[in-house]
Amino acid sequence: MQVLKGRRQPSPEVRSMLEAMVDMVPQGRVPARIFNDPEVFELEQERIFGRCWVFLAHESEIPSPGDYVLRYIANNSIIVVRDEEGKVRAHLNMCRHRGNQVCKAEMGNASHFRCSYHGWTYKNTGELIGVPYWNEVYHRRLDKAEWALVPVRVETYNGLIFGNLDPDAPSLEEYLGGFQWYLDFYLKPGPNGTEVYGTPDKWVADTDWKICAENFAGDGYHTPVAHAFGFELGYFPSSARTHFEGVAVHIPGKGHAIGLGRTPGMPPFFGFPPEVVEAMQQTLTPEQVQVFSQVRTAVCTVFPNLSILLQPFSRIPGQPGVRFVTMRLWHPIGPGRIQMWSWCIVPKDAPQWYKDESYLAYTLAFGAAGMFEQDDFENWTNLTRQVKSTLARDLVFPYEMGMDLEPDPTFPGPGVAVPPYVHETNFRNMWSTWAKYMLRD
Ligand code: FES
Ligand SMILES: [Fe+2]
Repeated sequence: MQVLKGRRQPSPEVRSMLEAMVDMVPQGRVPARIFNDPEVFELEQERIFGRCWVFLAHESEIPSPGDYVLRYIANNSIIVVRDEEGKVRAHLNMCRHRGNQVCKAEMGNASHFRCSYHGWTYKNTGELIGVPYWNEVYHRRLDKAEWALVPVRVETYNGLIFGNLDPDAPSLEEYLGGFQWYLDFYLKPGPNGTEVYGTPDKWVADTDWKICAENFAGDGYHTPVAHAFGFELGYFPSSARTHFEGVAVHIPGKGHAIGLGRTPGMPPFFGFPPEVVEAMQQTLTPEQVQVFSQVRTAVCTVFPNLSILLQPFSRIPGQPGVRFVTMRLWHPIGPGRIQMWSWCIVPKDAPQWYKDESYLAYTLAFGAAGMFEQDDFENWTNLTRQVKSTLARDLVFPYEMGMDLEPDPTFPGPGVAVPPYVHETNFRNMWSTWAKYMLRD
């Protein structure tokens, strides 16, 4: 079944902006307009979110047969469910009769979904098995096999479930294109991987998803300024002097990017409990251990809108503290507007005290009222408002930081690794990739 048809065409004005970006972005310029524009938003719904692998859920959110959660790809409500055989599936949450949502609860357990309008009933595999008055009103002629829930492609990597609306899209493995090597730092802290701690925090904010995705693709530049309190009060083991050390890596043409910040002088894998350090040394490759054991902050974006951050946070100023990992989905719900989804994930095999401390650190720093979170959203909502103005939409932003830097040929991971931690190489790759998707008919 054809799920996606690329119907929308850009106006001549937006098309020429996108075409100009092909040369402009590698030379360090990005149009301000892309960060808050109704037409750009509409085109993204089909050309970005209709084609890319979009994060749906962590497998530990639906551990048992029948467990489900409701998620989105673009404006499509999606049921992500584990069927009775244990297979993870995704369906468009829309009754095939007249389009009602067949599932209205955000999460739960169900072997079947029954539409509240006329009662069509579907198994959690998507199969239509119940049509009220099938004899009396359809005279048994309605072909139930034709009217199953619309399936959505799903694939997983180490517990992360992604969905894709494009039947012709490459596999998730090809799409990630080597970025798995970096995701392993977050997802392989032991033989049993990770699990979510609690349920996701959600809120709505007036900011463009791209601002957030860019920030998490390695904007170490803002950290000592926007989050100065973290340095000054000692919540964060870095200083304005050492903060820039490390490396930024991107996967060319894919848009995925990570910033790996280092604090010299810290012990290997500081902030993790000994059990987790030992497990990581077994599950990660020697090359991964060599790179990640030195890392203070690992902050990445899986193009387009999933970001993951691993960071130490100390409740006792001056101490290394504990690590936390947050996954965040910048889900666009309008021009310059997102619904934010934020999870804390923890090593499944870690001791309970560490999981609790890690979640507490996440909540204090990056929960809905987290200190770092407030700093970021205050800036992001403000700049999203500014770029909508009549003057701003004709301006460009400079993206020239690090244009003259050379990649490190000895770096053992995939992609292009450019030291140090802070520059804009990752962002140039991200917006070139974005323009490429947006231009493709
Ligand atoms: S809309 Fe679902 S049964 Fe009619
Ligand atoms: Fe920030």
